[in-house]
Amino acid sequence: MGIWHSDGLRFGADYNPEQWPESTWAEDVELMRQAGVNLVSVGIFSWALLEPTPDRYEFGWLDRVLALLHDGGIAVDLATATASPPPWLAHRHPETLPRRADGTLLWPGARQAYCPSSPVFRQRSLALVEALATRYTDHPAVVMWHVSNELGCHNTHCYCDVSAEAFRGWLRERYVDLDRLNEAWGTAFWSQRYHDWAEINPPRTAPTFVNPTQQLDFLRFSSDEHRAQLRAEREVLHRLTRHPVTTNLMLGDGGRYLDYHSWADDMDLVSNDHYLTAADPQAHVGLALAADQTRGVAGGAPWLLMEHSTSAVNWQPRNLAKTPGQLRRNSLAHVARGADGVLFFQWRASRAGAEKFHSAMVPHAGTQTKVFREVCRLGSDLRALGEVRGSRVDADVAILVDAEARWGAELDAHPTVDLDYAERLRSWYDAFWRCGTTVDVVHPSADLTGYRLVVVPTLYLVRDPDVDALDRYVRQGGTVLVTFFSGIVDEHDHIRLGGYPGAFRDLLGVRTEEFFPLGEGERVNLDDGCTADVWAELLHPLGAEVMSGYADGPLAGVPAVTRHPYGSGVAWYVGTRLDRAGTARLVARLVTESGVQPPVPSPSGVEVVRRRTDGRSWLFVINHTEQDVTVGATGMDLLTGRSHDPEVTVPAGEVVVIRESSPPEG
Ligand code: GLA
Repeated sequence: MGIWHSDGLRFGADYNPEQWPESTWAEDVELMRQAGVNLVSVGIFSWALLEPTPDRYEFGWLDRVLALLHDGGIAVDLATATASPPPWLAHRHPETLPRRADGTLLWPGARQAYCPSSPVFRQRSLALVEALATRYTDHPAVVMWHVSNELGCHNTHCYCDVSAEAFRGWLRERYVDLDRLNEAWGTAFWSQRYHDWAEINPPRTAPTFVNPTQQLDFLRFSSDEHRAQLRAEREVLHRLTRHPVTTNLMLGDGGRYLDYHSWADDMDLVSNDHYLTAADPQAHVGLALAADQTRGVAGGAPWLLMEHSTSAVNWQPRNLAKTPGQLRRNSLAHVARGADGVLFFQWRASRAGAEKFHSAMVPHAGTQTKVFREVCRLGSDLRALGEVRGSRVDADVAILVDAEARWGAELDAHPTVDLDYAERLRSWYDAFWRCGTTVDVVHPSADLTGYRLVVVPTLYLVRDPDVDALDRYVRQGGTVLVTFFSGIVDEHDHIRLGGYPGAFRDLLGVRTEEFFPLGEGERVNLDDGCTADVWAELLHPLGAEVMSGYADGPLAGVPAVTRHPYGSGVAWYVGTRLDRAGTARLVARLVTESGVQPPVPSPSGVEVVRRRTDGRSWLFVINHTEQDVTVGATGMDLLTGRSHDPEVTVPAGEVVVIRESSPPEG
């Protein structure tokens, strides 16, 4: 059995049999078969059971579980079990525990209590990986390997002495000599010049603002340390086994301090965990964004949804249960956006431990439940959708995202605390979602050829090659939209001088001499009827056309939105935070002007995405509204087997997946 199932997409969950008496396991497998489960992740938090004391391994229980699963025809994504060290590690090696910036020690008793730079943790974890890989390399149930779990979720940054030493090593490699580090960090400021590497520390809690480049480098270093764990485990797995290796990312908001773009080549298959934010009334749009980001990290290739929830989680302030049908819409939206498998956290709801109020495929109340019925329905849906496996998502628009630009933009001591990178990204993304346009969410270094429109929200920090690529893209006929606080600094967080937005002045045909952030809650009017808040700037057009300007506020009469014909293309600039209507109006205009087409026109609140592969295409239509809707589509709905021509009616809250009779040009 390979990683991709021959009959349908992958479907399953984290399976934690060690939390249950062995007598439950046979029933688990039976119920999994009933639900259509064909892949489970096993052993994620099992280190303390697999290696109860150092170097003494107990694999008997895992042997028995894997045999049962294999007999039931269920494939296994075997975890390396390194996600959370056993209590004996901290007991014997307290120096493996992580510390916060203020020196607080993080004790064991929860999970992930390890310093990512600890050589002891690295050595002990790799010994476990080696033992597991050796034992299970030829196990017929195992089809892939799952490194750790959400690397860096709770121990993203560690400021202990071990980390400090590792940070100095990382800096030596990056800068080679101290003069270069002093230059990059701008240490002439505030008497910070270093004369010896030993004087350098992580950005621990200090009397006031810590050197921003030191902070930025520490964020880079920390992401690299988690990546190094992934690479080290993968190296062992590649040496000893032949199956693909993944690790579950946290694209959504969780992974903000991990530069996943740089991890892309360290996974044989990209997988992601996604949980809805209950407080977000448009949480399904956040889901779509996370899925599109995952596809971006995967370079457009199919990916795996490693975890999401069947209903409520347990870790938000108010954990809302999913309404009937929401589980299905969420799952199929991930598939629409490129997932070739849908897994949950977790199979059976725990009866003990911190996650006992987290939903699962088998709830505490058992199988006579809304959740289990919906799980079974989804299992049969995914079987019916098998033929979409391996196809790719169509998109004409790219939004550029960059972890480092976000880190830089959100450092302290900036013009305003009201600028929120994730909010800016989401607001532009929302506008495209609402007008039915599918976008790719990619790194600034991605190949932009083929996109009709590229959106660049708050790309504060940008590297020269990426500036040049964007410039070339527009000269050759592309349309770009750049938004405020972009192109401000280079990779060292040094201002690009001569007027903002330094990196993009020529492209945009504007020069800003001063930022005018707005007061808390202050709103200004624009002369085209929109309003704006948070940000304004004293901007001079240098070749750009003025599309709208401030009608009042501190910059009355100054341009706010500009348009610059450049080479064979056009470069737009938005120097403020437009309201929702203004954002939507601008996106509608850009979509029309650049010739972007939605997969098919659809009413508001209806998500339509097309997947295609040589000569065949499928239209996913997800109705998030409370009314039945009709969209143009000709072909067969894989979920019902019914044919539709020339339109299909999608009942309120339902989903159709049409195999199109004649795939459009793409
Ligand atoms: C994360 C973890 C899981 C579990 C879920 C709960 O995704 O990977 O182990 O804790 O959150 O939502």
